[in-house]
Amino acid sequence: MCGIVAYVGNREAAPLILKGLKRLEYRGYDSAGIALLNGDGLKIYKKKGKVADLEALIADKVLHATIGIGHTRWATHGEPNDVNAHPHYSFGKRLAIIHNGIIENYSTIKQSLIKKGYEFQSQTDTEVLVNFIEDIQKNKNCSTEEAVRLALQEVVGAYAIVVMDAETPGQLVAARKGSPLVIGVGENEFFFASDATPIIEYTKDVVYLNDYEIAVVNDEGLNIKNLENQEKDPFIQTVELELEAIEKGGYDHFMLKEIFEQPRSIADCMRGRLNADEALILLGGLRNHIDKLAKAKRIVFVACGTSWHAGLVGEYLFEELARINVEVEYASEFRYRNPIIKEGDFIIAISQSGETADTLAALELAKSKGAVILGVCNVVGSSISRITDAGVYTHAGPEIGVASTKAFTAQVTVLTLMAIATAKAKGTINEDTFRRLLFEMAAIPQKVEQILQKAEEIKDISKLFTFASNFIFLGRGLNFPVALEGALKLKEISYIHAEGYPAAEMKHGPIALIDEDMPVVFIATKDSSYEKVVSNIQEVKARKGRVIAIVSEGDVDVKKMVDFAIEIPNTHEILMPLLTVVPLQLLSYYIAVMRGRNVDQPRNLAKSVTVE
Ligand code: G6P
Repeated sequence: MCGIVAYVGNREAAPLILKGLKRLEYRGYDSAGIALLNGDGLKIYKKKGKVADLEALIADKVLHATIGIGHTRWATHGEPNDVNAHPHYSFGKRLAIIHNGIIENYSTIKQSLIKKGYEFQSQTDTEVLVNFIEDIQKNKNCSTEEAVRLALQEVVGAYAIVVMDAETPGQLVAARKGSPLVIGVGENEFFFASDATPIIEYTKDVVYLNDYEIAVVNDEGLNIKNLENQEKDPFIQTVELELEAIEKGGYDHFMLKEIFEQPRSIADCMRGRLNADEALILLGGLRNHIDKLAKAKRIVFVACGTSWHAGLVGEYLFEELARINVEVEYASEFRYRNPIIKEGDFIIAISQSGETADTLAALELAKSKGAVILGVCNVVGSSISRITDAGVYTHAGPEIGVASTKAFTAQVTVLTLMAIATAKAKGTINEDTFRRLLFEMAAIPQKVEQILQKAEEIKDISKLFTFASNFIFLGRGLNFPVALEGALKLKEISYIHAEGYPAAEMKHGPIALIDEDMPVVFIATKDSSYEKVVSNIQEVKARKGRVIAIVSEGDVDVKKMVDFAIEIPNTHEILMPLLTVVPLQLLSYYIAVMRGRNVDQPRNLAKSVTVE
């Protein structure tokens, strides 16, 4: 949520920062801005809208500067407009700040500053923070670094900030608590960004700033201290991320590229972990935990959004295969409920970004109550992956489309591997089932590829539903979470109201909505609930609903009943979600494109939700 880019070195800062902001636009895109410092002083340019609008605003300006800070915003305090956009000047215009996060006690600080004569241009908490820093700097006659440090000791909330001081050209001061911040370390140049994507074009050497740390970069280099003013050794790591992974590669949208990457991303996720020929699952990150997991009394998955749906799939998997009691919690509910956590409980966070504020806080709470906390994350080095006791990376590669696709299938792949490995360790599945599951899993990427070959067919079906106002998605068992995910995808990117339900639950409410205008998507693959789903389809058809069904290859019965059927390959029942979700992703994508939506950056959403 909100993207931060800052640069100091010898290059032209403006084009570099704008390019970086475009790479981070998935984090927020309601307004953008840039502050540059040169011999003419400190200047801020900002604009409601996308980074492209900011680019147009500054197109005719001479912006020579080798130091600057930039921001792309997802509004929290104050509507998205030019004034509320970042960067913000301090009252005396000496400082400029960019901020990702929320200052919870901004109102009290603001009142005390108003009493001292400070005036505010915007409604943001960020402008309060920069004035607070300036006020301390004036009163104590101290350095920017010191003023930032003292200010942050008073601040309640979450932040990643970068501050530029007109009186200290060549220096940037940054800090973090709760919101991510990566420092790129080049030759006589430094970069700050919310993730590594704006940096890797210039350097692969990065430092992930930790909570409560302040970084200062200037011609003396990089210096990190904590809020208590103790020096910290910067831990420089090499990011293994190639530029092509964060570009569209010829696809119209990142989302389409990411849907089509799934055969590869699922294979990458299993690489080195699954060996069907030798009947082995090796999850390096959980080497010392699988046996303990096998003895777990209870597993609690905590997650948000699509990752929560992956958790629901995980619930079925662990219960079915490993016979472990599982609960799946919205992280935001779990953290505020004084949850009961007992010895032998495992709390597992699922998060693509590894930065979602609620998921992170839920984990911290569980940790404070003595639970073993594990993580299933996509972003290497993310906050969740760093605070967990152990975990498994999903290795799906960067996911840039706001609506999650390949991260979901990678999460489900990891959870499936974990559940099978745990079941094997616990002895709740026999050797035959174990081997069969491994072979079936190894075949999944190729089966996903087969489904993707039906993209044109799915596009043709989508055309007929472009102007629907509502949709219902129904499935049973492991396909119930997939129905939820199908509905969420459609809602997120097309703005069509959509609901996912367990197919049997339809009779307890949603059936009242069904008429000839209501499209109903059924996941009706050949599994243990097939016959029951068939009855549910009949109930919908009897009320003239229009049915699209995801069916197993060779299905005859459902195909006769429904308006449209999309055939997918067969696999073991527990692996079905990895296949059934793919046509739903494509359906949502094509409907949204046909409605003219911005599928990669749907309104009001952000990819990485770093505020609660
Ligand atoms: C946001 C994104 C969703 C994502 C959710 C959880 O709402 O738009 O796509 O599923 O956050 O994010 P996480 O990074 O924790 O998986």
